[in-house]
Amino acid sequence: MLTRALRYRFGGYDSAVRLGDEQLLRQNADLRGLVVWDENTASLLAPLHHLPSAVVPPGERTKSIDTVAELLERCVQESLERDSTIVAVGGGVVCDVAALVASLYMRGTRLVLVPTTLLAMVDAALGGKTGVNFSGYKNLVGTFYPAEQIFIVPSVLDTLPQREYLSGLAEVIKTAMLGDPELFELLDQRAEAVLAREPAVLEELILRSVAVKGQIVQQDFTERGGREWLNLGHTFAHALESVAGFEGWTHGEAVAWGIAQALRCGERAGITDPAYAETAIGLLRRYGFRCKIEDVSPHALIDAMQRDKKARGGRVRFVLQRRPGETELRELNPQIVRSVLMGS
Ligand code: GLY
Repeated sequence: MLTRALRYRFGGYDSAVRLGDEQLLRQNADLRGLVVWDENTASLLAPLHHLPSAVVPPGERTKSIDTVAELLERCVQESLERDSTIVAVGGGVVCDVAALVASLYMRGTRLVLVPTTLLAMVDAALGGKTGVNFSGYKNLVGTFYPAEQIFIVPSVLDTLPQREYLSGLAEVIKTAMLGDPELFELLDQRAEAVLAREPAVLEELILRSVAVKGQIVQQDFTERGGREWLNLGHTFAHALESVAGFEGWTHGEAVAWGIAQALRCGERAGITDPAYAETAIGLLRRYGFRCKIEDVSPHALIDAMQRDKKARGGRVRFVLQRRPGETELRELNPQIVRSVLMGS
C-alpha cells in the first residue's frame, strides 16, 4: 500500500499524519519509550511488540487522573527521558490519556499516536487535544499537545465492530458537512462501499476527514475561533450522553442525533436552509442513525446542556450551519431548542 502523508503546524508544533500499512511502524523499531495499549489493541501491530508496554482497561473509566498517575509512574520505572517517546495504540480514550501523560512527563516527551478506531483516526488523534474526565465532566482536565507523528493503518479496522465503525462515520459525515462537499457526495453515492469498508473508499474517507480537520485546527489550534465548528452536533450529543449515563449510545450515535437537532433548530431559527437540513438528515438516516428519540426527557437534556462545561453563565452557544461549509456559533432562543427536543 502506498504511504500517504499530510503535514501540519499546530501552534508551535509540527504534526505529521502518515497513512499506510503496518510496515509504517517499522521506522519506529529503534525508538526508546513506552507503548500504551488497551486490552483490545495489545495484540495488534506486531512491529511495536518489542517495546516496554503498559496496558490499560478499555472504556471511558480509563480517562481518569488515576490512569494518568499510573502511567506517569510507569514512565519513571522505565527511566524515560525527555526525548523518549510515548506511543499510544488505541481509540480515543487511549490516545487522549497517553497524550496527556506525554505532555506532562518532564514537561513534554515525544508523542506518537496510532489510532485503531475510525473515530480516533478521523478526529481524536488529530489536533492535539488531550484530556481526562474530572468531577463528572467529560474532558475537563487536559492540555493542547499534538503528536509528532500519527500513524494510520486502515487494515486494523478489519476487526472493529460495525457499531464502532459507524460511530466514526458520524464524525466523517460531520466533517463532510463542515468542509468537504465531495466527501459528502461520496458518503451519499457510495453508502454500500462505505459500509462494507472497501479499502480504497475507506482510505479516501480517512484522508479527506483528516484534511478538513487539519485545516481547521491549523487555523485555530487553541479553539478561540473556528475550531468550535468541529463541535457541530456535540452540545446536544454531550447532553444525551450525560443523561443516558454514557450508556446505550455510542459517541457517534449521539453526535448524529445531535447534528439532526442542530439542523432542526437552525431551520426553526431561520438560519439553516430547509432543503439542506432534509438532505443531511436523510444521509444520517441512510447510515441507520436515529434522528428522533422518544425515551429521553427533553427537560433533562436542556438541564444537561446548561451544565455543559462550555456553557457561559448557563448560556449555551450552538454550532449551526446555513448550508454546506457555512458554519456559525450562535445562541438560540430556548423556546426553539425546547420545541425541537419535544418534537424529536
Ligand atoms: N474533537 C474536536 C476537536 O478536536 O476540536
